[in-house]
Amino acid sequence: MNKPQIAVSVLSSDFGHLAQEIASLNISGADLYHLDIMDGHFVPNLSFGNPLVKAIAPLAMLPLDAHLMVTNPGAYVESFSQMGVKYFSFHQETVYHPHRLIQEIKAAGMKAGIALNPATPLSTLDEILPDADFILIMSVNPGFSGQAFISNMLRKVEHLKESITAQTLSTLIHVDGGVTADNARALIDAGADILVSASYVFGSGDYARAISNLKNA
Ligand code: DX5
Ligand code: ZN
Repeated sequence: MNKPQIAVSVLSSDFGHLAQEIASLNISGADLYHLDIMDGHFVPNLSFGNPLVKAIAPLAMLPLDAHLMVTNPGAYVESFSQMGVKYFSFHQETVYHPHRLIQEIKAAGMKAGIALNPATPLSTLDEILPDADFILIMSVNPGFSGQAFISNMLRKVEHLKESITAQTLSTLIHVDGGVTADNARALIDAGADILVSASYVFGSGDYARAISNLKNA
């Protein structure tokens, strides 16, 4: 059975003991560090930006996956690439010129991803899908960890996978929000390549076990 990669969102980690948290996660079996960048404008929450990414980067032994929930994601391309970020996703809802931004992200040496809110249709990707390295399907409304998975998003992942297959693309699908061991297998079967998790992993008390549960769901 195909296994997903797991991107652990540091949003739910204990920021007072960040170095210890990262040290534990480095050996947890996770595949990526998911960095939830929130500006308090596009989403109703403020998280962190360049200073914290700079603190995490030298401690992290896994690639960094930055999810920009900000109205000006282009402003972070240069600094994030310099700090070693590998995956950079922006929200389709925030930019006028997604094609241009994708080219900028790739030129900076990163993988370019487009994130879609739950209510944003897949048809907004029609002309741009071949340019993106990955698509991030939000399965909660962005802004907070710990929300319940929106079940209609399973169908959305299936439809996206169908489009990717029909066009013989190698676009990866990330699914972000409300992922647990209970829905992980359905998401993988629907076509998810990378599962993002915050509260399921951090609420478990045993990061390695929780990640193994997701991978082997
Ligand atoms: C939500 C973030 C998610 C969030 C996931 O806006 O983009 O990455 O941290 O948290 P859980 O896994 O708790 O839904
Ligand atoms: Zn996220």
